[in-house]
Formats: sequence, C-alpha cells, structure tokens
Amino acid sequence: MTELSKTGAAVGEPVATTEPPRAFLDVRDLKVHFPTDDGIVKSVDGLNFSLQKGETLSIVGESGSGKSVTSLAIMGLHRLGARGKNVRMSGEIWLDGKELISAAPDDVRRLRGRDMAMIFQDPLSAMHPYYTIGAQIVEAYRIHNDVTKKAAKARAVELLDRVGIPEPAKRVDSYPHEFSGGMRQRAMIAMSLANNPQLLIADEPTTALDVTVQAQILDLIRDLQKEFESAVVLITHDLGVVAEIADQVLVMYGGRCVERGPVEQVFEAPQHPYTWGLLGSMPRIDRDQTERLVPVKGQPPSLINVPSGCAFHPRCPYADVPKGGVTRTERPELRLAEGGHWSACHLSPEDRTRIWTEEIAPKL
Ligand SMILES: Nc1ncnc2c1ncn2[C@@H]1O[C@H](COP(=O)(O)OP(=O)(O)O)[C@@H](O)[C@H]1O
Ligand code: SF4
Ligand SMILES: [Mg+2]
Repeated sequence: MTELSKTGAAVGEPVATTEPPRAFLDVRDLKVHFPTDDGIVKSVDGLNFSLQKGETLSIVGESGSGKSVTSLAIMGLHRLGARGKNVRMSGEIWLDGKELISAAPDDVRRLRGRDMAMIFQDPLSAMHPYYTIGAQIVEAYRIHNDVTKKAAKARAVELLDRVGIPEPAKRVDSYPHEFSGGMRQRAMIAMSLANNPQLLIADEPTTALDVTVQAQILDLIRDLQKEFESAVVLITHDLGVVAEIADQVLVMYGGRCVERGPVEQVFEAPQHPYTWGLLGSMPRIDRDQTERLVPVKGQPPSLINVPSGCAFHPRCPYADVPKGGVTRTERPELRLAEGGHWSACHLSPEDRTRIWTEEIAPKL
C-alpha cells in the first residue's frame, strides 16, 4: 500500500505546498466550490495533475463531473465580474512558474490570451456577432502586441490560412454567421492562437461538428501543438479521440480524479471500475449500431451531497468486493499503481487484475 502524506494524498502526488512547480502546468489540490441556496456545489474537489510543454492531457468523464469548471479555473474565468462573488477557489495552479490562484486578477488577465488560451465547444459564445472575424483576431493580437492595425490584419490572414480557411485574405472580412460551424471553429482556433499561447485548453472542441470536420479539427490541434510545442488540455467524452491524441489521461468522477496515467496504461490496464464502464461505452466499428453504446448505469453523483466513501459506490458493480463495507465509509485516495499510473479504488491489486482480465477485457 502506498504511504499517505499529511494531506491525505498519496506520497509522490503533487500536493498544495509552496514548493516550486515541477512542470509547466502544475495543478495542486484544486477546489472550486459554488455556494448556492441548496448547499455548496463541490464542482472540483481536490484535483492534482501536471503537464509538460509539448504534452497533451485529456480529461474525460460524464457530463457534470467538473471538466469545464476545471478549465475555467485555470483560465481564471470564475473570478470575473459578478460570477466572482459566488465561487470559492483554493489550491494552487502553477503556469510556467507563476501561481495563478493567488495572483492579482489583472496579472491573470494578461496571461489569458497571451500565454494561455481556450477553445470552446461553441465558437459563437466566444465571438462577437457584430464584428468581422478579422477584427476579432486583430483585437486579440493587439491587446498583447504593440503593432499597427495593418500588421495585425496581416497576422489575422496568416492565422486563418494556417488553420485551413480558404481564401483567407477575403474571408478575414466575413462575420461569424457567414461561416459554417467547422469554419467558425477554425476561426476561433485562429483567434486563440494569435499570440502563440503555450497552454491551449480545448473544451469539447468538436462536439457540435460532423465526424469528418471533427477529425480535421483534431488533426489541426495536433499539428499546431507540434509546431508550437505547447501544452494542450483536451476535454472530450470521445475516448477514441483520447486514444489517438493524448499522452496522459485524467478520468474525473464527481469533481475528483479517479484515475490518471499515461494513455497506453489507462487503455490497456485500466484500474478503476468507472474507467471500465467508460471503456465499455466506447463506440465499436465492428459491432452494429444497437450494440454501440452502453452508458455506465445509474446517475452521476450529487455534488452537494456527495455519496459517502467512494463517490462511485452507488453505481459500482464491485462495491461489495472490498471487505467490511469500506467502499461506503472510506474515501479511497489516489494510489500509484506503476509508472505514473494512479487510481482511487479500494479493490486490491489482485482483485482488480482478476476482474479486468477475466470479466471486463474479454467483453470489450
Ligand atoms: N456557477 C456555478 N454555480 C453552481 N454550480 C455550478 C456552476 N458552474 C458549474 N456548476 C456545477 O458544477 C458541476 C460541474 O460542471 P462542469 O464542469 O460544467 O461539468 P462538465 O464535466 O460537464 O464540464 C455541474 O454540476 C454544474 O452544474
Ligand atoms: S472503491 Fe469500491 S465502490 Fe469505489 S470504485 Fe472501487 S470497488 Fe467500486
Ligand atoms: Mg463541460
């Protein structure tokens, strides 16, 4: 059994300390809570991960598991305006040696768009309907660069060309509604790349697009990452995409990480029953349509009254395997399995291996 540190995280896990960060992006014990009339919504409740430049981390998990709240926290977007009054954030977010949670909002604003940028699912939410695509890229570029409008416009054309928009010199003067969904997504990527950000967060960037366009956009993100050596956080519910694009995977359940590790390990030897469920729900091209999706049975947990013990226990088919009802009383901490592969589950390594190899893997 892995030894536990004072904070309850497994030893070796990055925990909230003032130690200098070991990675380009280092998130430590991140909590994002929203007080509401019904109680405190613990959207993110003690998340740790780190990411190097040139690496892609995929965050997966059902709707409502805290993926978007995590990305907005990194971007410093929860603290803006009126929203800022209704959020409680703690922990540390280190980006390139700077800690963002304790930083002044103005400092975080300066980093946003320059050092870090975000691509959303819905480009229209990030674009102004009344300004041309070009004007919006020019604006994004000029906030951080002291250049003439003409130079910025040339940069906009260059970026539109880079993301694969045909006739960029002409399309730069189009309005968002004049673009197709896929083209708008490309334009938003161009806008987010205006300042060569070193961290790019893509939150379900292709969900609204058809399959062919999805593949093109993902290829684009991958190419751009190689070109700029940036760190990418890709949020997606599509495990096929994860297998293809990610270096690291983080599986979220109810605002916490239940499994994290190198992509090959998480796919070949997943350690957590929830991950088994997600893998079982992956579409298979060799099966017919009706057999394709078997979602994990049951409802996602309440984030106000989080189930006791392991938050997954009400849905877990193996909740009674660990002895003494421990899954209902004790929260499993993340433990290191091997080679940077972590999971939070009370199953013994032997039970886990047996269930995975004998019961789950043969059915996938
Ligand atoms: N401003 C807010 N106030 C209260 N609850 C919120 C707020 N923002 C998000 N939540 C809740 O946090 C949970 C996680 O949301 P989110 O991160 O968007 O999930 P997803 O994993 O689907 O991206 C959801 O239950 C959502 O309702
Ligand atoms: S701790 Fe228990 S309930 Fe939770 S995932 Fe593991 S076996 Fe299932
Ligand atoms: Mg989301």
